[in-house]
Amino acid sequence: MGRWIGLCSGMTVILALGAGRSAAQIPQEFTNLQVLPDDISRGELVQVMRGFSLATGLRCQDCHTGGDGQSFEGVDFADDGDEDKRKARYMLTMVREINESFLADLPDRDDPPVEIGCKSCHRGQPRPLLLTQDLRIALDEGGVEAMASRYRALRENFGMAGAFDFREWEVNTLGEALAAEGRPRHAAAVYELNAEFHPESVAIQGSLAQLYESIGDTTRAVARYERVLELAPGNAAATARLEALRGGGGGR
Ligand code: HEC
Ligand code: HEC
Repeated sequence: MGRWIGLCSGMTVILALGAGRSAAQIPQEFTNLQVLPDDISRGELVQVMRGFSLATGLRCQDCHTGGDGQSFEGVDFADDGDEDKRKARYMLTMVREINESFLADLPDRDDPPVEIGCKSCHRGQPRPLLLTQDLRIALDEGGVEAMASRYRALRENFGMAGAFDFREWEVNTLGEALAAEGRPRHAAAVYELNAEFHPESVAIQGSLAQLYESIGDTTRAVARYERVLELAPGNAAATARLEALRGGGGGR
């Protein structure tokens, strides 16, 4: 189950639930509940399952085996053959432990207490990655282009879901980390992408200028320092670097 699946499955969940014919295929009796209470009503169970789907972005059929993947016909809800179902059961126990053991003993706990649910971590994603973690995986697996298209897809699909932090500083921290790891070109690609969505940011332009300077791309460095001065007239650091770059004969 790849994390890419999460991008489009949210809508399908809603549609599948809306279809009454599908709902009729959900069994009346449950034979393999290991964590949820045995006497749970069908209505309550469906509510819990719907919550799983909305929290993780996984469809009923992503966790339950059998059937054609569209309707519920032939789906074997009791079967444990699916890896996501087994992981979800483990998660169910984990969440219970967090709420009933760990948080219950929190000194001076808030009242009313804050309960942890699937969505507290998952926020509609099967793998609850932060934006910076997600982009780093895309970068390491597919390079700069893959990272940029991943960012655009997440922004377009999850902008309203609040699942990812698209604010300027969140993405800047990825650029900072890559620069510190000696990957200035990758860091610059991250800042370039971020600049597209935060065009007025002095910090981004300044970081880009420094990165280009560090890899000897004087033309780009000069352009970025000039942009800093447009956004922040009189900026001392940019003025000094521009003088040095132009005076040093590197600039053209
Ligand atoms: C993220 C994975 C996941 C998703 C998505 C999911 N389920 Fe489940 N489902 C489980 C797990 C785990 C159990 C077993 C819980 C337990 O052991 O107490 C379960 C149990 C069930 C059972 C009881 C089976 C039995 O006889 O023991 C039914 C029925 C069911 N799910 C229906 C659904 C429906 C309908 C949907 C879509 C709205 C859905 N599930 C979505 C993980 C999932
Ligand atoms: C405290 C945070 C947290 C909570 C709460 C949580 N999860 Fe998870 N979940 C994770 C993490 C982290 C992973 C990825 C683990 C890994 O493979 O490294 C994960 C993975 C999963 C996966 C596997 C997805 C995949 O593609 O590998 C499923 C399914 C899942 N969780 C379901 C649930 C369900 C259902 C609940 C609520 C009962 C829940 N989780 C609650 C953190 C959480």
